[in-house]
Amino acid sequence: PYNLRNRSFLKELDFTAEEFRFLLELSAQLKAAKYAGTEQPRLAGKNIALLFEKNSTRTRCAFEVAAADQGARTVYLDPAGSHLGSKESVKDSARVLGRMFDGIEYRGHGQEIVEELAAHAGVPVWNGLTDEWHPTQMLADFLTVQEHSGKPLREIALAYLGDARNNMGNSLLVTGALLGIDIRIVAPRELWPTEEVRAAAQALAAESGARITLTEDADGGVAGADFLYTDVWVSMGEPKEVWAERIKLLTPYQISMDTIRATGNPDVKFLHCLPAFHDLGTEVARQLHATTGMTELEVTDEVFESRHSIVFDQAENRLHTIKAVMVATLGS
Ligand code: CP
Ligand code: NVA
Repeated sequence: PYNLRNRSFLKELDFTAEEFRFLLELSAQLKAAKYAGTEQPRLAGKNIALLFEKNSTRTRCAFEVAAADQGARTVYLDPAGSHLGSKESVKDSARVLGRMFDGIEYRGHGQEIVEELAAHAGVPVWNGLTDEWHPTQMLADFLTVQEHSGKPLREIALAYLGDARNNMGNSLLVTGALLGIDIRIVAPRELWPTEEVRAAAQALAAESGARITLTEDADGGVAGADFLYTDVWVSMGEPKEVWAERIKLLTPYQISMDTIRATGNPDVKFLHCLPAFHDLGTEVARQLHATTGMTELEVTDEVFESRHSIVFDQAENRLHTIKAVMVATLGS
């Protein structure tokens, strides 16, 4: 019904609500087929480049496994493994990769880089995260929301707490607006999405009927929510100097059992794109603990490990949704 062949997947604003819902539906079908053992390889013989200028666990593995499931080959270029950005321009790299590959995934810094790649590659380019947007994450998140909600998408309320001026804040606000949900940004004003992103979301909401709230009031902002969502307080590529300021600004927005209670919804679900800082289980966390004394940041370990948490369903859905993006834009 929706022909996305040869389209790139660069940001949510490039898609209509119908196209986005079509990708969610295709994701659910591909997931069901994989579970049933009836998956058909629709990417047989395709070659896919995975270009990463920042690290990844989920996104890289989702592209690798999805491609293998569908019969395609992948080549992984790590943050130090290509000339891109140092010795060779984005435009030249795009034209070289476009001659060898049928599709290109890119994760990196500014959105303008992935846009330029797409403008010159001649093949579909998929955004695996930039500083501004994380569109493949949105498909996984809303597939997970659909699976865990008894209600139609447009009736759900999702509150995002924390750093909302990052890729996750932008993407959740715009995608929530696109899909017509009750979307809340619960964060200090300094860390709200920019005026430009907010205006884009308002324009979508006028079409979709979405309810948009931006508030600094942590308890009021989560009241009645079906889903609570948070992300790291400092993103990849940001200098470590911002940690102290972020901790000061965002500690009132940590998701704890008190936040769960403030929703008034005993069945509220907890989402996180991951990786998460919720205990001292990583080297980064131990270093941060040594300088700040914090053992938990955006979410408490209690919530992360509770029955409310659906973060690993969400992580699994990266696979099925990234597969849907490749199949829809490149598949036979
Ligand atoms: N959520 C996400 O994009 O995870 P990775 O950084 O591991 O790819
Ligand atoms: N905001 C985070 C998301 C990671 C998936 C980052 O950009 O590092």
